[in-house]
Amino acid sequence: GKVGVLLGGRSAERDVSIMSGTGVLQALQSQGIDAHPFDTGQRSLAELAAEQFDRVFIALHGRYGEDGTLQGALELLGIPYTGSGVMTSAIAMDKITTKILWLKEGIPTPAYAVLHADSDLNAAAADLGLPLIVKPPHEGSSIGFSKVEALADFQAAYDKCAPLDDSVLAESFVAGREFTVAVLGTGADARALPVVEIVAPEGDYDYQNKYFTDVTQYFCPPQLDEATQAEMQRLAVQAYRTLGCEGWGRVDVLLRAHDNQPFLLEVNTSPGMTSHSLVPMAARAVGMSYEELCVAILRTARL
Ligand code: DAL
Ligand code: MG
Repeated sequence: GKVGVLLGGRSAERDVSIMSGTGVLQALQSQGIDAHPFDTGQRSLAELAAEQFDRVFIALHGRYGEDGTLQGALELLGIPYTGSGVMTSAIAMDKITTKILWLKEGIPTPAYAVLHADSDLNAAAADLGLPLIVKPPHEGSSIGFSKVEALADFQAAYDKCAPLDDSVLAESFVAGREFTVAVLGTGADARALPVVEIVAPEGDYDYQNKYFTDVTQYFCPPQLDEATQAEMQRLAVQAYRTLGCEGWGRVDVLLRAHDNQPFLLEVNTSPGMTSHSLVPMAARAVGMSYEELCVAILRTARL
């Protein structure tokens, strides 16, 4: 049937999505699939309906693509789509709700505070300790992210972040190593791919170092004992299932240096599929090519 690859969109991660979607489109076409690009940022839902796609591969990131809104529209249009459903997509896009659900299940995630214009930053810093991390709760790709080392810098970090979202998330900083765990499948069939370690220059895995520089190093498998890797995979699958994720996703994890305690940050329900991206890297480690991965994800498309 006719497949749409949804890309672009209207979020701050639009450019990343164009890279992801272009890769997915070429991969599906190379496998003989009748795939066509569709930019949801430039074309309307009426045009999407008129395309009469039999199913769509969502290669959108962030709001209006990864957050449940588009998934709801696709449900109404009756078009099967890849990845998680409406509710899970909305929850996973909200790092605060994600944490509340995980903490209820005993899944470790950094301590946090939700900040608004009238919040007492001194009290939050006293509570969380320094350094701390400031980020918008509904963005990806490190947009609006700051690491606050000194109390004097907290207000500026807050002010940079606040215009991007309806609240600001502050988290305790976890000193250690950075990992990500891709998960494929749904429910009892969900399986973790091998763990990927991210080593960015000076620990700064920011927007530039995620997509545009070649200074970030990735290790799959990482130099880390098997038991800790297995524990991260177990937690990632539990975290994924707790939110009701479907099809595929990627769980970001920090590993505290002094005791190897993992802390889960978030699930990306429509992870990057760019040439620098990590789900393709983890798939390659088990002998699955980028093309095979795209076809496997497409096969999970459902309503
Ligand atoms: N939000 C980006 C696309 C990722 O997590 O891969
Ligand atoms: Mg993200």
